[in-house]
Amino acid sequence: MDVDTGIDDSLALLYLLASPEADIIGIAATAGNVPASQVAANNLAWLDVCAAPDIEVALGAAEPLAIALRTTEDTHGPQGVGYAELPQSGRRVSGRSAAQMWVELVRERPGQVVGLCTGPLTNLALALRLEPELPRLLRRLVIMGGAFNHPGNTTPTNEWNVHVDPEAAKEVFDAFSAAPPDRRPIVCALDITETIEMYPEHLARLAERAGSLPVEIVSETDSVAARSAANNPIVRYLTDAVRFYFDFHRHYDQGYLAHMHDPFAAAVAIDPALARTRPATVDVELAGTMTRATTVADWAGMWGREPNADIVIGTDPAAFFEQMITRVGDYARAVYPPTTLEDA
Ligand code: RIB
Ligand code: CA
Repeated sequence: MDVDTGIDDSLALLYLLASPEADIIGIAATAGNVPASQVAANNLAWLDVCAAPDIEVALGAAEPLAIALRTTEDTHGPQGVGYAELPQSGRRVSGRSAAQMWVELVRERPGQVVGLCTGPLTNLALALRLEPELPRLLRRLVIMGGAFNHPGNTTPTNEWNVHVDPEAAKEVFDAFSAAPPDRRPIVCALDITETIEMYPEHLARLAERAGSLPVEIVSETDSVAARSAANNPIVRYLTDAVRFYFDFHRHYDQGYLAHMHDPFAAAVAIDPALARTRPATVDVELAGTMTRATTVADWAGMWGREPNADIVIGTDPAAFFEQMITRVGDYARAVYPPTTLEDA
């Protein structure tokens, strides 16, 4: 996983921890929603909350490849996990950089590693500079990023992960231009991830599945100071995190909901059959005055270049939420069995 945790990155981590098919071999902390050091701290803290095994968390570059870092605490909260106040972890960050971890883990497991990027592509670009063979050494790459036939969420035409580091995004897509068809990155762009709409009812159903009490229905009338009283810590911190995202989406007139971009990409990384895709040649605008960091898809070969991406063009959001609630709810119950919890 290469993440900029992040509220939805947090749920992507929980989804993979909850999925028996997934063996997380490393987490790259990429600067984006919040600085890389905060991203690393958030992942170490979540691993503690989940009593997860030791999983390597490696610190990524402090800045994007060519421009100053822009973060977005207004979207993800002061620490990047919404209203959640995760206990600081005693776990230590890796001694190697995120780029070194990418390269070394994949070289050790040729053809076996699925890379999942849910943040800016800075560290994957740095890894590709170290190891240009990465597209062929990876089993597959899944990217949450970009917007194609769909408005941007950061400028009118660009999406946050690409906006933070457009040079990195271009280097990544260019590097996969020579990849064989079964190695093309699967790209989960806003076109599809903005159909993954999480509602308070989803959180309540997850709490029920986990056997957590009380089951809470968060609401737009809740005070910003409100904190979940759920007795299951995973449910409690997730509720506090996601409620901030609900407030953010409502503030921007999207409704009291949250677009769950990253856990959807995580689900696709485990089961690509969840997504219908279409090949295209993707490039990134770097020089546009109004369009910099816009991802452009050539669906029809107008540029005369081989496709370098399989863009997700369809999915079943309800099926995703059923699977996510079942998996994460059961996982939260397993980590904190109801019989062991004090009533709140
Ligand atoms: O544009 C949405 C993406 O940007 C998500 O990955 C979110 O976590 C932020 O990183
Ligand atoms: Ca993210």
